[in-house]
Amino acid sequence: MKIVHATGELFPYVKTGGLADAAGSIVETLAEYGHHVAVFLPGYRTVLEHPDASAATSVMSIGVELGDEFLSGEILAIKPRPNLTVYLVRRDEYFDRRHPYGRPGRDYDDNAQRFVFFGKAVVESVIRLGLKPDVVHCHDWQAALIPLFLRIEERRRALAVAGKTVLTIHNLAFQGIFPRKTFALTGLPDELLGMDGLEYYGQINMLKGGILFADRLTTVSHTYAREILTPEFGCGLEGVLQLRSDDLVSVLNGINPHVWNPATDRHLPENYTAADRAGKKACRRALLRECGFGEDFAGPILGMICRFTEQKGIHLLPGTGDFFQGDRARLVVLGSGAPEYERVVREWAAERPEAVHVAFGLDEVRSHLIEAGCDFFLMPSIFEPCGLNQMYSQRYGTVPVVSRVGGLADTVTDVDAEPGQGTGIHFEPDDVDALRGALERAETLYRDRKTLNTVISRCMKKDFSWRTAVRAYESLYREII
Ligand code: ADP
Ligand code: GLC
Repeated sequence: MKIVHATGELFPYVKTGGLADAAGSIVETLAEYGHHVAVFLPGYRTVLEHPDASAATSVMSIGVELGDEFLSGEILAIKPRPNLTVYLVRRDEYFDRRHPYGRPGRDYDDNAQRFVFFGKAVVESVIRLGLKPDVVHCHDWQAALIPLFLRIEERRRALAVAGKTVLTIHNLAFQGIFPRKTFALTGLPDELLGMDGLEYYGQINMLKGGILFADRLTTVSHTYAREILTPEFGCGLEGVLQLRSDDLVSVLNGINPHVWNPATDRHLPENYTAADRAGKKACRRALLRECGFGEDFAGPILGMICRFTEQKGIHLLPGTGDFFQGDRARLVVLGSGAPEYERVVREWAAERPEAVHVAFGLDEVRSHLIEAGCDFFLMPSIFEPCGLNQMYSQRYGTVPVVSRVGGLADTVTDVDAEPGQGTGIHFEPDDVDALRGALERAETLYRDRKTLNTVISRCMKKDFSWRTAVRAYESLYREII
């Protein structure tokens, strides 16, 4: 099949979270399976600075109508592997910036312009390059208007541009909501501005547009697919999603075995496998050393790597009482995000330097060492569409302690609920007492070496490869074209 993807993030070029990992693995695997895959990505500064971009070729200049302006851009192409072309939509005024969406805690003021431009540039390129894809697969709000732009252009030019469109919702909490007046930038017909279109409480909502008009919708775990139809998790779009529920399917994410594999991970001081875990001890020592903790610490080490947002349950940490105090346990945190959450973590950690170490910022190398060097991985998310870290941690023999929501519920089996199959510990979301109880259960499990070893081996042997997910996308494409 000929498949076009459009995404605001793509590993290894630009990443703020799991969207990049997921999109990167899906397109790579589809290409590996012999499909002709083109993926469109904004030409952000970090992307243009990536070594692969030095071999990028300029494919063409484009012109995009944005409101009453006609803006130019350039399309560059990188071919990182057979069957895969990454097209970069370049317009430096919009994308030559440090961060894809804004400074932490504040989005750029021109995000509506930037991503309407991106979406229209994708459609213009698909037409002018003659790609004629069977499927155009868009990810999240950044690409959500593409199905609409595509059909409008087809109508305008009386031309068939693409077969079917798919929109994957990686996180309903980000919708691309902008002032109503930005609708004029889209060039979409006025009838799409109403309640049955992009209108959303007096503003416009890009994700809503995609949900209404993509041929099929997918989301990234089975539980999240059910959750988002409810007011509790639907972020105000549950009604619209209910309208489309017959066209909504769930495809659980996987993990990239070339990037996340303790046997080959080049970011680790020593590698290890399920059969021989000696290297994991070396990773533990390296992590303790790096955090300034004594290397001979014998208790449990927990890790957390995340964006600091409400989603990740950061605000629950101060409620963990004396668990992370003195010599009971160690917690290593890596993350960045909204200043108010950074402050919560900073102040809480400052009161217990002997037990909690926090590093702020994005650090791919350190994230691998944390996955490998810890005994437990903590994810107290309030909601979690899929979550990747709990899968990485199982692969690395680091037992996940997770709230029972979304993809966390689908990928971690509780050791007490199912002793024969358990790979981690579940607790009720957004509940400090439940979190404390889960930490105590982790402590008990840590002391029971025999059971712990069984759980670790089980974790490491679980198959989280992308194959299953990508086969599911393939069947979905086949079914609709
Ligand atoms: P989300 O997409 O909601 O942020 P996921 O668990 O799906 O959550 O994916 C997060 C991805 O981003 C993981 O690969 C994780 O390791 C990575 N990540 C998050 N924060 C950081 C950080 N500060 N440094 C390095 N990697 C990070
Ligand atoms: C989102 C979600 C996360 C998911 C990722 C990849 O960022 O928050 O749960 O794993 O997308 O699909």
